[in-house]
Amino acid sequence: MSDPGRKDTHKPGFIPWAGDPVPKREIEPSAVLYPVPVALVTCGDIDAKPNIITIAWTGIICSEPPMVSISVRPHRYSAALIKEGREFVLNIPSESLLEKTDRCGVISGRDHDKFKEVGLTPVRAKMVKCPLIAECPVNLECKVTEMKPLGTHEVYMAQVVACHADEKVLRDGEIQIRKARPLVYCPVNDEYWNLGSKVGDYQFTSKK
Ligand SMILES: Cc1cc2nc3c(=O)[nH]c(=O)nc-3n(C[C@H](O)[C@H](O)[C@H](O)COP(=O)(O)O)c2cc1C
Repeated sequence: MSDPGRKDTHKPGFIPWAGDPVPKREIEPSAVLYPVPVALVTCGDIDAKPNIITIAWTGIICSEPPMVSISVRPHRYSAALIKEGREFVLNIPSESLLEKTDRCGVISGRDHDKFKEVGLTPVRAKMVKCPLIAECPVNLECKVTEMKPLGTHEVYMAQVVACHADEKVLRDGEIQIRKARPLVYCPVNDEYWNLGSKVGDYQFTSKK
């Protein structure tokens, strides 16, 4: 119902107050979280037929013990490999691997040897049987601790048991984002983006 006393929220100079409706339009409820990281997850035994799957539904779920999660549709070829081995490696691609990253998310390990076809190099890991991807500057070896079906996806929670980083992205043992140049993915419009520039440090306001 129109309220003759209410100001037009779109007019310049409008000052909102608590009683005014927020000038927003409600949109369809969905997991509108953006951007998210994009990873190349390796699964399967390096001495058998290892596979690579592009994963954007991934994140940190605990600091200590260090844990991450990945969510995979249960019918994926990779899902069976992860369930069987209860291990995977989260390989973080650089911007320069954009095309290879997309390709691993288009073709299936059921009928493709992605390492060969896409042109990525498997390297033996330290704690798990799945290979690291040599071309990715950072690799997290993970052991699955829990799996949970959620709906379209099944979440695999895993402990990070070893990490590797290329010398060229490290300074004083720390990963340099400027050097690692990660890719991000925006599920709202299915676009890949790179990161812009640094705008601040963690809790910088506490140092004022
Ligand atoms: C950018 C991008 C992100 C993706 N993220 C996921 C994801 O988080 N979970 C998932 O199950 N599939 C995801 N996919 C789809 C799979 O990577 C794709 O279906 C792949 O071909 C499956 O490989 P597989 O059959 O060898 O397991 C993504 C694809 C792309 C291109």
